[in-house]
Amino acid sequence: MIKAPRIAPSILAADFADLGTDIARVEPHVDMLHIDIMDGHFVPNISLGIPVIASIRRRSDLLFDCHLMTTNPDAYLEPLREAGADQVTVHIEVFPDPSSVAALAREQDLRFGIVLNPPTPFEAVEPFIEICDMIVVMSVHPGFGGQSFIDSVLPKIEKTRKFVDSAGLAADIEVDGGIDTSTIGAARAAGADVFVAGTSVFGAPDSVAAVAELRAASSRE
Ligand code: DX5
Ligand code: ZN
Repeated sequence: MIKAPRIAPSILAADFADLGTDIARVEPHVDMLHIDIMDGHFVPNISLGIPVIASIRRRSDLLFDCHLMTTNPDAYLEPLREAGADQVTVHIEVFPDPSSVAALAREQDLRFGIVLNPPTPFEAVEPFIEICDMIVVMSVHPGFGGQSFIDSVLPKIEKTRKFVDSAGLAADIEVDGGIDTSTIGAARAAGADVFVAGTSVFGAPDSVAAVAELRAASSRE
């Protein structure tokens, strides 16, 4: 069953020289924090790592949703947990069978999710949905913030929602990339219930107002 919309600001678009302030401002108004970890191999960019997560954990009580865009995320689950991660999501393109990495995440008491890149079909994740707390449909090619929403992923969100609901599962469906007031409504209508938003929140002059605008726009198709 689709849950109330939840907003997950991506700190990739925050001011890294003033990260604590940027997070504290939105903290009372958002549902979790999306943390993009990139290794320069799986994606052509390097973002942030475990010491940064440990630092912001000391300033925030939000759920930390860690999106692992790395080739060997399984090697870092324990340090991620120790640094304060609550949830990890790994790419199905890295783990065509994610059963073992899911088990490792459970051992660390981490919530677990699988991410699909735009060209990857729903069928790649279908056999593993039952082991997921969340399925993440990328609506941009991973690696960079500030890209445009790819409309052609909407049918994949719909398919995922139909499958989750008809199997009676409680998994969240997150959409990541290019979410703003003009795209969130369509993603919601397709069945997403967690919305990652980087540029449209931290790039806005007033990040708190931007979160409120996203919530309002989520019910407009
Ligand atoms: C892209 C990241 C996204 C990114 C979203 O690789 O996974 O989470 O931060 O940024 P916006 O909202 O700017 O598209
Ligand atoms: Zn992300």
